[in-house]
Amino acid sequence: MTRPKILVIKGDGIGPEVIGASLQVLEELGFDAEWIFREAGYEYYVRTGKPYQDDLLDVAAEVDAIYKGPIETPKAGGYKSVTVTLRRELDLYANIRPFKSYPRVALNPNVDIVIVRENTEGLYIQAEVMLGKGQAVALRLATRKAAERIARKAFELALELGKKKVTLVHKANILKVTDGIYLEEFYKVAQMYKGVIEADDVIVDAAGYYLVRNPSRFQVIVTANLYGDILSDVAAGVAGTMGLFGSANVGDEKAMFEPVHGTAQDIAGKGIANPTAALSAAIMMLRWLSARGYGRKLARMADVLEKAIYDVIREGKVLTPDLGGNAKTIEFAEHVAKKALEYMGD
Ligand code: NAI
Repeated sequence: MTRPKILVIKGDGIGPEVIGASLQVLEELGFDAEWIFREAGYEYYVRTGKPYQDDLLDVAAEVDAIYKGPIETPKAGGYKSVTVTLRRELDLYANIRPFKSYPRVALNPNVDIVIVRENTEGLYIQAEVMLGKGQAVALRLATRKAAERIARKAFELALELGKKKVTLVHKANILKVTDGIYLEEFYKVAQMYKGVIEADDVIVDAAGYYLVRNPSRFQVIVTANLYGDILSDVAAGVAGTMGLFGSANVGDEKAMFEPVHGTAQDIAGKGIANPTAALSAAIMMLRWLSARGYGRKLARMADVLEKAIYDVIREGKVLTPDLGGNAKTIEFAEHVAKKALEYMGD
């Protein structure tokens, strides 16, 4: 069987720590890939004046998958987000983020949702201008094409995962034109799944409330770029910690896997970041590669890794500080790898 070719971008802040630990776990489990390492991010920009290595986008376009750590995007200045560039350049239009409550740390034990976030438009086209006189405006792009394909992706995912309901989250009461397009396209797509998957919609502010108070109201959420970004962190906080959840950015052909969290500068360099989010992204990548002909073994590897993480957290003997313990990133990762290897032998 040929080995998958995977581009690795370790990123900024805790990126190298969590991606490094995760790669070590994958290696211990015997995952065989052709790894191609490239640099990108704010630290690289400060060193070289460029946001990423010259051939990054070419390499990204020809590999089987991209495995990426978080990348810093400073709050001001001309530097544009590398993550957003990759998503847009490769047309990775769906950002799929599963959240399931973890033992010990979940605020609510009933989170079991997937957020499907539109990844290529909305306010993330970064078209902002000063109008003068202390006024600025940001343009928000909404297209029928993007609204239709993200809705379709959400329903297809619901079918694949055995979920029974898809909910559109929007603000069409205020943003009648842009969110209006999303609402219309959503219900057109929903017609095709009538009788199989239920469809409803919730306004974004109420969605934040339900996520905290009554998360089992949701199964699959589909939503525009900014709402998905914000609700993801809410979901992470209710289901566990920021250190726990991974995501897949997928297009029709390409995919990029990364933690949901950012660069966590407050703990960077201390060796205490939780590598679970990076591992969860790797689990999604293993399943994606397995479904694309790289062998059933990868899906099995994903299953045992997932179970090992869950059990390590449930047992509570080796936990990183965000989970209430004092283990280092590497200790936690080694513990997970050891347990996963035991399960592989079963
Ligand atoms: P953040 O996710 O980096 O941090 C929020 C809180 O979660 C902090 O207290 C942090 O210590 C904690 N945290 C995050 N990951 C953790 C882990 N693995 N283990 C333990 N604790 C963890 O969010 P923030 O501070 O808003 O973002 C920092 C930078 O990251 C920004 O420049 C932002 O643009 C970037 N970012 C990049 C992303 C990407 O590349 N996909 C995604 C999100 C943010």
